[in-house]
Amino acid sequence: MNQKRLIELAFKAADNAYCQYSNYKVGACCLCKDGKYFLGANIENASYGATICAERNAVFSAYSNGYKKDDIEALCIVTFAKKVGSPCGICRQVLCELLHQDTPIILANENEVIITDIAELLPMQFTEEDLK
Ligand code: THU
Repeated sequence: MNQKRLIELAFKAADNAYCQYSNYKVGACCLCKDGKYFLGANIENASYGATICAERNAVFSAYSNGYKKDDIEALCIVTFAKKVGSPCGICRQVLCELLHQDTPIILANENEVIITDIAELLPMQFTEEDLK
């Protein structure tokens, strides 16, 4: 799948954002190597802490359907905001466990695309190795 299509799918996911508190729509598309993909949107709650971000929903959905980090080709996260969205700290921690260090993470808004990975987004990671 090309990058343009991946970004389009993530924007499609953003249409489903449930974000009446922030009015900040986020969409994500977790693309798997077999061509399947899983969409996620941010889903907020009156109890704000119960909110789940779009990228976690997309990656959790891939895992919930039997996919693992080896199977994931790329993750795309989009917003309609002026500034390209950058994953929150909780999402970075989740992505550092559920994606490979160099899996492309494509961040985009309607004007700009930034390609990064979790190694860049989250240096000095806390992982299972720290628990040994
Ligand atoms: N949000 C995401 O979905 N992903 C991010 O990476 C940053 C924040 C959501 C959470 C909340 O619904 C809204 O954006 C404002 O924080």
